[in-house]
Formats: sequence, structure tokens, C-alpha cells
Amino acid sequence: MSPTLIQLAYLLAAVCFILGIRDLSSPRTAVRGNAIAAVGMLIAIVATLLTRGVVNFPVVLAGVAVGSAAGTILAFRIQMTAMPQMVALLNGFGGAASALVSAAELLRYERAGELPNATVSTAIVLGALIGAVTFTGSLIAFAKLQELMRGRPITYRGQQIVNGLLAIGIIGLSVMVAMDPSQITAYWALFVGSLVLGVLIVIPIGGADMPVVISLLNSYSGLAACATGFVLGNSGLVISGSLVGASGLILTKIMCDAMNRSLTNVLFGAFGQAPAPTPAGQVEQRTVRGYTADDAAIVFNSARSVIIVPGYGMAVAQAQHAIRELMTVLDARGIDVRFAIHPVAGRMPGHMNVLLAEANIPYEKLLEMDQINPEFGETDVALVLGANDVVNPAAREEEGSPIYGMPILDVDRAAQVLVIKRSMNPGFAGIDNPLFYKDNTMMVFGDAKATALGIAEALKEL
Ligand code: TAP
Repeated sequence: MSPTLIQLAYLLAAVCFILGIRDLSSPRTAVRGNAIAAVGMLIAIVATLLTRGVVNFPVVLAGVAVGSAAGTILAFRIQMTAMPQMVALLNGFGGAASALVSAAELLRYERAGELPNATVSTAIVLGALIGAVTFTGSLIAFAKLQELMRGRPITYRGQQIVNGLLAIGIIGLSVMVAMDPSQITAYWALFVGSLVLGVLIVIPIGGADMPVVISLLNSYSGLAACATGFVLGNSGLVISGSLVGASGLILTKIMCDAMNRSLTNVLFGAFGQAPAPTPAGQVEQRTVRGYTADDAAIVFNSARSVIIVPGYGMAVAQAQHAIRELMTVLDARGIDVRFAIHPVAGRMPGHMNVLLAEANIPYEKLLEMDQINPEFGETDVALVLGANDVVNPAAREEEGSPIYGMPILDVDRAAQVLVIKRSMNPGFAGIDNPLFYKDNTMMVFGDAKATALGIAEALKEL
């Protein structure tokens, strides 16, 4: 195939990626966006296979077959709650692929007795550095979320200095190799150093911050792919890598803003370390009021407006269909039901939207934090379903709280708050929630799915 046609195919693929991303910004068009982006990827793969650079088709096709089989099995088997780990692994493999391609190119130049030009040697170094950091950093993020290692930050004295010195060493080696690509030993040193750096920069970050780290590593994997695009002279890879790099960075910023944290605080704040024990004699005894599904049904029976706030517990319990059932029963009684979606509810961006869409809950019932917050004061019942941190008033009221300043859903301003969760255990941030002790709060202890169904059944009897 002629080089011009191949470049045109890459351009077409890039247009598909951009249209796909645009459609992914709304739940209504997300499925179409996914399909358009997938077609773009198919065009890019076919165009790449038709370039003259491909020397061994059986090996490439075997790789495609193994990768496709592994991807299909994982996609079918993965639980929605384990999606962040899956994304972490995929980012890591993307980084590894970029690092390996950049190493292979450098070795190819060496074997041919040639030296790459300055642009290519810089790109080779960046592909190795960013790709290797992304690979090992993503594996640590995966291990923390999969609980293969402890999720709490791993810190030690002088940690930032060690990381800083290693980073300076790697930058020095990078400059050296970029200026003189015949320095193969320095190249391998920077490669191994980058693998180690990936581990060291992620271990001090707590499990609660892993989704932000994964989004940042996603951005890195895009930048590594972009660098590899320059190494191979592949414009399709340069464009798609830049798109991933930019969108990952934007998503990282959105998540940090939603938690009222800076990226520096996420990366270096060691958020989620074991809290200092409360001194004896200072433990405040507070009581909570526990109720049954039947009690909750009576509250709903006299309500005219209800706002449902889903959280991570809904995902764990897979309670989205049960909550749809409850919504149908409330709708039939003429009760106005809406859903309040916090931007970091659950464990990944859009987690709640995806689950509620799966249960066919109409999009127009889903309202974002800024839209719904002024409505709580006018609402009869706020039903908190497996959410905790995103409704914790300490973020608004307690200056010393680790989540102080994080925007929350103001459920406590509703006339009555119903909280469904299994115990008094804290949420991801690991802190107590004063909402549970408020006079207008009723705790209904139990699994989110069973309890929501129980309330729906009890309501039908009333
Ligand atoms: P969390 O604060 O993590 O609280 C979830 C609650 O669900 C827990 O308190 C748990 O209490 C309850 N739960 C678990 N399984 C349940 C079940 N089967 N039935 C009923 N309840 C169940 O969740 P959230 O309010 O959605 O907040 C999300 C947290 O993740 C925030 O701290 C946020 O900053 C963090 N985070 C999120 C993201 C994204 S992008 N979403 C990114 C970074 C960090 P019990 O064990 O007592 O049942």
C-alpha cells in the first residue's frame, strides 16, 4: 500500500478517535462513540499491517490472536468493581509495549551500525523512560487495588530524597543517551532506573488515591505511545498517544478538583495512612438509630420527593436493578424520584452512571452535584445507598478532617435521611461520618440490594 494511502488511513483513524471521544462525553451517545473509536483502531491496525516495515506476519498475527483472546476473556469475566484494576493493567501493558518498541529500535540501529538522529534518539529515550515508569507504577496500582499488597501508603524517612536523586540520575542518563545514542549501557541503566522509579513513586500513595494515579498513568501511557510514534515515524501513534495523554490529564484534574486536592497532595501527601489513635478518655460516645426496611417504607409512604444518592456500596451489592425496582414503586405512587451523582462516587469516573444506565434508569433522572445540591433542602427523603465519604458533612464543617473542603452532596439538608449500609464501617477515606448520628438520619443496616428490594416489597403492602 502506498505511503500516502497509509497516512490517509491514519488520518481517518484519528478522526474516528476524536469523534469517538466526543460521543463518549454523554451516556446517550457513549455506545456509538465506543464503536466509532473501535473502527478507528481497526483502520489503524490494518494500515500498520500493510506498511512495508512489517517483516514477520505469523508472529504479528500470533500476537494479535493471543492479545485478543486474553482481552475478550478479561472483558467478560471482570467485575464492574474491579474495573480500575483492569484499566491499571491495560495502561501498564501500553507503557511496556512503548518501552520495548523504543528499545528494539535502538538495538536495530546499533545492529545496522547506524545512529538515529536527534529527534529519534530523544523519542527513544522518552519512550523507554515514560513507558517503564508507567509499566511498574501500574503494576503497583493494580496490586494495591487487588489487595495483593497493602493499600496503605508505604513511607520511610528520606523517601522523597531517594526518589528525587533517582529521578535526577535518570534525567542525566536520558540527556546522555539522547545526545549520544551509542551509549547502550547508559540506555539500559536508565531503563532499569525507570522501572524502579515507577515502583517507588506509587508505593507511598494510598489505595484511596489509586483511581487518580491510574488516570495519571493512563496519561503517561499515551505520552509513551506518542514518543514511540516519533521513533517509528508513525503519525497515527503520535495522534492517538497525544489524545490519550491529554484526556488522561484532564480526567486527573477533574478527579482532583472533585476531592478538593491538588495533584501534588495526591502524589506526595501519603493520604490514607493509619490515623493516630484517640487518647484514652477522649472517645466520644454517640448513638445511632437503626431501623428496618418496613420502617423505611413508612417514611417513603408519606414522602412526595425523594433523592437517591448511590455510592460504592451500590456497586459492591450490584443493587442497581433493585433500586430501579424501588424507583418504579415510588413512581407509581406519584413520588418524584431523582438521583444525585457525585463526581467521585464509587471507585472510577462515571461508575454510578454506568451502573444506573445498565438498570435502564432514565438519564434525565440523574443530576450532577451542582444541579442537585440546592434541591436537598426542599426534599422529603434523601436515600443514601452504599455511599459514605461523598455525603460526609465533616468535609463541609470540620476543618481538621482529612476530607475537609471536598465538595459533598448535602443530603443532611433533606427533611429525612435514610442510610442503607451494612455496618458503621467507614468508607474509602477511612473516617467516621457525623451524618449517621444526626437527628434526621435513620440507619437501615443491611446489604444495599436486599434492603432496597425489602423496602420496595414493604411499600407494595402499604
Ligand atoms: P465510600 O465512601 O467508599 O463508602 C462506601 C460504603 O458502602 C461503605 O461505607 C460501606 O459500608 C458501604 N457498602 C459496601 N458494601 C456494601 C453493600 N454490599 N451493601 C451496602 N453498603 C455497602 O463510597 P463513596 O461514598 O461512593 O465515596 C467514594 C470514595 O472513593 C471517596 O472517598 C472518593 O474520594 C474515593 N475515590 C473515588 C474515585 C472515583 S473516580 N470514583 C477516585 C479516587 C478516590 P459498610 O461496609 O458498612 O456496608
